[in-house]
Amino acid sequence: MAWRSPSNIALVKYWGKWGSQLPLNPSVSMTLTNCFTETVIEYTLKDNQGGATFNLLFQGKENVRFEDKVRSFINVVSKELPALNSIHLDISTHNSFPHSAGIASSASSLSALALCLLSINNSILDVNMSGNDFLRKASFLSRLGSGSACRSVYGNWVLWGETTGFDDSSDEYAIPLSNHVHEKFNSYYDAILIVNSGEKPISSSQGHKLMESNPYKDSRVRTGKLNAASLIDALKSGNKSTFSEIVEYEVANLHAMFLTSHPSFILIKPETLQIINKLKHFRNETKLEFTYTLDAGPNIHLLYAEDIRDKMLHFINSELTSLCEDGKWIDDKIGKGPILIDSN
Ligand code: PMV
Repeated sequence: MAWRSPSNIALVKYWGKWGSQLPLNPSVSMTLTNCFTETVIEYTLKDNQGGATFNLLFQGKENVRFEDKVRSFINVVSKELPALNSIHLDISTHNSFPHSAGIASSASSLSALALCLLSINNSILDVNMSGNDFLRKASFLSRLGSGSACRSVYGNWVLWGETTGFDDSSDEYAIPLSNHVHEKFNSYYDAILIVNSGEKPISSSQGHKLMESNPYKDSRVRTGKLNAASLIDALKSGNKSTFSEIVEYEVANLHAMFLTSHPSFILIKPETLQIINKLKHFRNETKLEFTYTLDAGPNIHLLYAEDIRDKMLHFINSELTSLCEDGKWIDDKIGKGPILIDSN
């Protein structure tokens, strides 16, 4: 069994959770194309029900940290996928982007794993699921590994979290927004500017936990809900300036949560601010409609539509790469979601 699953970039951020990886507020993301994980699993049936056993190769090598993550994920999803209890899995997984790129890989890697495990379970038990049911279940399972992973199961624009006006939205799985998105947002690019590829001082699970005691938690939750609703409206109507306004406000709000956590932490670097200032200046001068976002890290995702690609590429190469670590950046774009590579 083998699946390729992409990473995604959130425009309205998931930050803070409750229960079993349920989000405090809805998030909206764009699925990427070039940043992905490919996971191949060979499985053999065992003659006991003693639980799944596995071997894992990450980028061709053993990796204790990822192995621990996979072990707890398999333990959790085995409750949902009973066939896993009587198999041995040989898992081999690799990312298209270098480990040291400073790009979070949990969304792509855990969604790829969830897709494989669900496919294996269904094949052993002869379960026939419709395409929609399969993806919804895969999204649900991915969420149990990493919240943001549940959005990677769908292509294009994706919503995760209960949202007024979207009856099938849920805190438990993501849904595709594609029928609600204006064609202006069909061909978006994401230039991922690598400011720093070092390990983050705080993991995202530690960060989510700190939201529990953040004095601005309630206000963040309200803001996240409002921003999700307004961003979806902007996506629907094709309003790029409102889109940019909300996306950039979300970044400020997310990083303000880092500053106001106890203990407080800072993830941006001087070059992050220098790039943001350059982008604002360039936009004032040219009136080009692009925007930027950041995840829980210092790297910048510069988002723009196809019609201004040449101008943006020129600006990136002439003005921004000098502020990136070793000049590194990744040229990515909106994508169609996971691909089944091998169904055996
Ligand atoms: O899925 P996690 O637990 O790695 O959290 C992701 C958090 C952000 O990347 C900051 C925001 C998001 O919605 O992806």
